[in-house]
Amino acid sequence: MKKIIISNFKMNTTPSEMKNYAMTLATKTKGSKNKIIICPPFTHFAVANQFFEGSKISLGAQNVSDAESGTYTGEISASMLKDSKVEYVIVGHSERRSRFKETDKLINKKIKTALANGLKVILCIGENLATREAKEAGNFVKKQLDDALKGIYENELESLIIAYEPIWAIGTGKTATIKDIQKMVELLRKEISYLYTDKAGEKINIVYGGSIDINNYKKIISLPCLNGALIGGASLNVDNFTVISKENY
Ligand code: 13P
Repeated sequence: MKKIIISNFKMNTTPSEMKNYAMTLATKTKGSKNKIIICPPFTHFAVANQFFEGSKISLGAQNVSDAESGTYTGEISASMLKDSKVEYVIVGHSERRSRFKETDKLINKKIKTALANGLKVILCIGENLATREAKEAGNFVKKQLDDALKGIYENELESLIIAYEPIWAIGTGKTATIKDIQKMVELLRKEISYLYTDKAGEKINIVYGGSIDINNYKKIISLPCLNGALIGGASLNVDNFTVISKENY
């Protein structure tokens, strides 16, 4: 089964290091059936494009401004990403929600701006440990989804990937259990069916992220209910990420 394998470098590596990474990945994943999306820092796009152009690997960004242009020092606009041959953008990552105080409302605006500029969106949602322990994970994640998708039309869902990333599983070495993942994915599909149509709920792409590594990836990504994975730490090792990207799921 074809899967979507996404890397999130976060704030790691330099543009010089990207060269070897991109060259290796592009060469070694040539025959892969999977959709591979690499999200390095903005500074890496030019060098990544040298190797990804003509390959099946897509480039993604880790953030985008909700504004189109103007007096926003340090921000990156959707049209700048588009012009840099970026196809995807991660929106709503928990690190941006917590460290940079991004709200559901801002995330909704960012999604609209990104889509309006022809970018595809990887929307991250997920609960923290306290919310999970209070048995509120389902309601919490549903609300994140509802708020993020306000005013988004059904035909735009084709350009959206939902990444379920429980915060307690990110960078902790502790993934959600298979049962947790299945339950949450089912709930998300149901919510999309409720907000749109049954067909939309079936078709929406949902990936899981949080402590996926070279030892546990196969069991998780093979889940029939899941369309793929969003990988942080383990994606920094090009050899491991190549193996995960090439796998026949
Ligand atoms: P880790 O794979 O390092 O847990 O990170 C997951 C993540 O946040 C990807 O966006």
